[in-house]
Amino acid sequence: MPLVNMKDMLQHAYDHGYAVGAFDLVSLDFLEGILAAAERARAPVILSLAESHFDYYDFELLMPAVEVAARRASVPVAIHLDHGASLDSAVHAIRLGCNGVMVDASHTDFSDNVRTTRAVVEMARACGTPVEGELGYVPGVEGEDAERHPGELACTTLAEARAYVERTGVDFLAVSIGTVHGRMKGKPKLDYQRLKQINDALSMPLVIHGGSGLSDDQFRRLITNGVAKINYYTALADAAAASIRGRARADRANGYTGLVKDVREAVSSEVETRMRLWGSAGRAAEVLSRCRSWLPVEHLIIYNVEGIDDTRLEMMMAEGRRVLGAIPGVREVVTGRAVQENAKYQCTWLVRFCHPAVIDSYCRHPDHVAFADRLFRPVAGDRISIDFRIVETVFSVHHHGAAGGAGQGG
Ligand code: 13P
Repeated sequence: MPLVNMKDMLQHAYDHGYAVGAFDLVSLDFLEGILAAAERARAPVILSLAESHFDYYDFELLMPAVEVAARRASVPVAIHLDHGASLDSAVHAIRLGCNGVMVDASHTDFSDNVRTTRAVVEMARACGTPVEGELGYVPGVEGEDAERHPGELACTTLAEARAYVERTGVDFLAVSIGTVHGRMKGKPKLDYQRLKQINDALSMPLVIHGGSGLSDDQFRRLITNGVAKINYYTALADAAAASIRGRARADRANGYTGLVKDVREAVSSEVETRMRLWGSAGRAAEVLSRCRSWLPVEHLIIYNVEGIDDTRLEMMMAEGRRVLGAIPGVREVVTGRAVQENAKYQCTWLVRFCHPAVIDSYCRHPDHVAFADRLFRPVAGDRISIDFRIVETVFSVHHHGAAGGAGQGG
């Protein structure tokens, strides 16, 4: 249940002067470590999945684990696509369970960035999903030496920030004010004046990318000036790598499990330190009570067909799975046939929507309208259609709930 609406979560952080950590995860060890820290610190948390990391894990395989972990957590969690490459990436991420998306067009010029981001916002709105946009350019690559990928840092300007938010409708704005992604030598110089002006003008949750390597004082000043989400990865990757090196040095005979044994705890302890510094620690209960839960909807249709044979029925179902399954916000389309021959209804569609907003957008979507009018309704006059809000899902009777953390899952 503690999967919550990310817009509500970040608005709470913004209104109360703290920041939620968005931690990029690259493995189950990271996932468990990040959530164990959030449970210990009683902090809201964002589980981030960066498209640039999709070479290191199978996004489709990892997402079910991320979603189960989020839903069985006792602290509020959001799941975010970080640095998505395209509109399709965002549609796919929402289908797999992300409830916040970012498509990064910050490397393109202003009007292209606006156009790309606007299209993402239009799609995501129909899915009830908030969107982060980035304006200005934060160079570097997460997990690598920032100096090796200097790029050209481009600071966000106030005038462009105003126009960008107005024209795109983004829910959160990632700004470039001097941070870089990746491992830094020395301390970056941050332009707080610029940040303050943007915050004063926009009054919306701001996001900082490239959180690794900043000082405690820098974090505090960022948060004072409107930063409500901090993206953080390289320091976690370095802590994980240091623990593996330590285990390799301690015993050269260590195999895989011996080498990675401390990764969860290394990640967890780094995350917890940040949650305490950024002020999200201790906020879980408040956030849970103030934020809307993120609950899917099941669109259920039971029906009987008339005038088509079995082959045509199977073809219609296959076409429906293909066409309806591609509509943004649809997570899954299941077709079924009654087990009992004398059942009152012989066929079903079970369409899983990510959010109640999809009830309407799905209904109006031209692909749905065409399919329903051309193939389905003419043969399925006898039907019942109901949308169900999922009240609760039980994931595991063995899970330890609030005490859950690394290694405690059922
Ligand atoms: P760091 O890897 O520098 O912490 O940046 C993470 C980030 O911004 C992910 O989007």
